[in-house]
Amino acid sequence: MKLLAYPILTSCLLFTASAQLLPFAKPLKRHASEPQSPFLDPLRPAMPPSGADNTGDASAGDLLISDVMGTDSRMGIFSGFTRNIDSISSRLDSSAQNTTVLAPEDAAIRKLPRKPWEDPQDYETLGASAYAGQDGESRAQKNLRRFIEAHIVPESPWRDGQEMQTLAGNKVTCEEKDGKKMIQPGDIEVASIAKTVSNGEIWILKGVVNYAAAQ
Ligand SMILES: *[C@@H]1O[C@H](CO)[C@@H](O)[C@H](O)[C@H]1NC(C)=O
Repeated sequence: MKLLAYPILTSCLLFTASAQLLPFAKPLKRHASEPQSPFLDPLRPAMPPSGADNTGDASAGDLLISDVMGTDSRMGIFSGFTRNIDSISSRLDSSAQNTTVLAPEDAAIRKLPRKPWEDPQDYETLGASAYAGQDGESRAQKNLRRFIEAHIVPESPWRDGQEMQTLAGNKVTCEEKDGKKMIQPGDIEVASIAKTVSNGEIWILKGVVNYAAAQ
């Protein structure tokens, strides 16, 4: 799987000039009972298996975050990213560690002024070819990891007012404000708590956590 991720990343990077945010194509973890086709493309709306209630509020027995990560069409891009970082995907697949995943909506990622794996400093020091070749790939992979880690809170449940440190090291709190759940700093609205499973929760955010501040 790991070997597969790199050529795909390369092909994405070749097209960073295009406005299209290309999906990372690592296949989702699947269960035999689930239909295959809707899960292949993280940018295509993923339909829950027919008959199953995957809308999220029901506490879902012994399901893990990794089982449900790809089933919400609002966060397909972020979900695709997590599968490309081995340490993250194994965390989400572990029943020994709880996690609160702060998953920005696809729209929020598309609105970013640059791709999550691009860092203006890289362009400053290395120019337009900052993400070319093998060094470029590992640079992009490192930046993408930082972006993802800034959205992974290594605990769940997460109570209002409790300060947490993400895997990237940035501190975040959540609070109720004007009847909405917000992540601070940044006033990032939580659109919904999309999934509650045995090893944590997936929250869908209307914006992104300031990952540039996380070093
Ligand atoms: C992990 O999450 C489950 C489900 O919410 C909860 O029952 C359990 O207490 C949590 N464990 C820890 C160590 O927080």
